[in-house]
Amino acid sequence: MTTRRAFLNAMGRAGGYSAVYLSMQAMGLLATPVIGATRVVDLPAGSGAGRSVAILGAGIAGLVAAYELGKAGYKVTVLEARGRVGGRVWSIRGGDRIEQIGREDQLCTFDNGFYFNAGAARLPTAHTAILGYAREFDVPIEVMVNVNRAARLDFGGRSITERQAVNDTKGRFAELIAKALDQGALDAQVTQADREKLRVYLRQWGALDAKGAYRGSDRSGFRDNPGGYANPGVPMDPLTLDQIIADGFWGGGLTFEETFDQQAPMFQPVGGMDRIAYAIYARVKDDVRLNTPVKAVRPTGHGVRILLEDGGAVEADYCLCTLPATMVKKLDIPLSPAKKAALANTVYAPSAKVAWEAPRFWEQEGIYGGLAFTDAPSQLIWYPSGGWNAPRGILIGAYAAGALGNATSFSSMPHDQRLQVSRAVIERMHPGKSALLAKGVTVAWNETPWSEGITARWTPEQRKTDYAELCRPEDRIFFAGEHLSYIGAWQEGAALSAHEAMTLLHTRMVADRMTGKRLA
Ligand code: PHE
Repeated sequence: MTTRRAFLNAMGRAGGYSAVYLSMQAMGLLATPVIGATRVVDLPAGSGAGRSVAILGAGIAGLVAAYELGKAGYKVTVLEARGRVGGRVWSIRGGDRIEQIGREDQLCTFDNGFYFNAGAARLPTAHTAILGYAREFDVPIEVMVNVNRAARLDFGGRSITERQAVNDTKGRFAELIAKALDQGALDAQVTQADREKLRVYLRQWGALDAKGAYRGSDRSGFRDNPGGYANPGVPMDPLTLDQIIADGFWGGGLTFEETFDQQAPMFQPVGGMDRIAYAIYARVKDDVRLNTPVKAVRPTGHGVRILLEDGGAVEADYCLCTLPATMVKKLDIPLSPAKKAALANTVYAPSAKVAWEAPRFWEQEGIYGGLAFTDAPSQLIWYPSGGWNAPRGILIGAYAAGALGNATSFSSMPHDQRLQVSRAVIERMHPGKSALLAKGVTVAWNETPWSEGITARWTPEQRKTDYAELCRPEDRIFFAGEHLSYIGAWQEGAALSAHEAMTLLHTRMVADRMTGKRLA
C-alpha cells in the first residue's frame, strides 16, 4: 500500500514541487480557506519546525510572512534596513525626521497625538485579509470618510461643491436623455412602454421637472443655506451643460468613489495606519532586526546566506524577499537573466503628499472628512476623519497619486513649491484660511530611501511576462510585495502576495524534505 508520504515523494521526484503542491492541496494537507472572497493562508501548526527563513523587509508582506511562517513553526529572521517597520505604511508624528533622497531633511513638529499617513491611509471593506489582521490583533478601526458632497472641486479655475458637480451633472445628463426621448431619437433603442418608465426614472434620477427640464435642485446645495423665520435659503444657479463639459471636474473626481477599492464605507486604524503593522510586529518582534540593511544574497547549494551591510551574515534554508522591485534591482543577488530583464522593465510610479497642522476651519464650514479634488498638480485635499471638532488637526494638503494618474510634475517640485501649490489650492477652496496652515511637511515615495517608488505600473501585456517572471521563485528565494499582486499600492496586495509566496515556500520545503534534498 502506498503511504501519503511515499506518494508525495514520488510526485516530487516526477513533477517537482508544483506537483507536490497540487497533490498536497488535493489531499487536504495544505488548506487554502476562503474568507469572503479572499483566500487566506493557513499552514499546519508545527509543519515548518526545524526549517528557517530569512525575510528581507519588514513592510506588510514581510511582517505577515514572519507571523504566519512563525506560527507554522519556521524559524524566521526579518532583516529591515529602516529603524521602523511598515515600509510604505508610514505614520509620521511630531519629532520624526523625514529623510528624502537628494533633499534637505525635514523635522515634523506636529502636536502630540497627531499623525500624517504619508503612505497607506485607507482600508477598503473588500480588503478582508488586512482587516482580518486588524481584527485578530485588536487594532481599533474607525470610519474613514472618503467621499463628501460638501468638499469642493477646483477645476478650470472654478471651485464648486461636489454636491453641485454631482447633481447638476446628473440633472443635465438626464435632461439630455429626456430631450432625445422627446425628439424620438431613441425610438429604435427603447420601446414605447419603456420610454414612459424611463421618463419617470430620469425625473427621479436627475431631479427634472414634469416637462423633463432641469432647473436646478436643492440636491446641489444653496448659495445661502435655509434658516429660521424668513430665511428660505438662496438656491444655486445650476451649471449649464457647456460649463460642466468645459470645467472637466467630472472627468476623474466624480467617479473616483466608484473605484472598487474606494467605495464607502472605508476604515482607518485609530491613531495612525502603522497601528496594524506594529500590532503584527508585536507578535514577531524577537525575530525582526531593525537598522539592518542587506548587502547581498548568496545561495549556498543547500540554503541561502544573507550578507549584511554591517559585516554580519544570516544563514537560512530559504529566503523570502519582500523588497520593492526598485530595491531588488540594487541588491547584489544572483538572479536568472529572465528575472533581471523583468526587473529592468519594471517601472514604478512617483507619488507625493503634503501635510499641514491647522485649526479645523474646514469643519466650521461644514466639511467633515472626505476628499477635495483639483486640476492643480497637487490633485487632492484630504480632510481628517477622527478627532472631529477638536481645535486642531492634520490636513493632507496634496496627494499627487502616482497610482491614479500623473504625479511627476508635483513630485519633482522643490519642497517649498509643493507647499505653495497646496496652499494656493486651499486658499481657493477656503478663502482667507490658508494663512492658518502650519508645520507643512511633504513626502514623495520615489525619493524615500528603501522604497524609491510607490508601486509598479504594470501594463496588461507585462502581467503575462515581467510580472509573471517576478512572481516566480529563484530556487530557494521567493518573492512578495504589493507589486506582485493585482491589488497594487494597497496593504491587501502585500499581504495576499505574502500568502502566495509562503504557500510556495512551504510546498518547496515539503518537497525538499520528501525528496531527501540536503538542507542546511
Ligand atoms: N491605495 C492608494 C490610495 O488609496 C493608492 C491607490 C489609489 C491605488 C487609487 C489604487 C487606486 O490612495
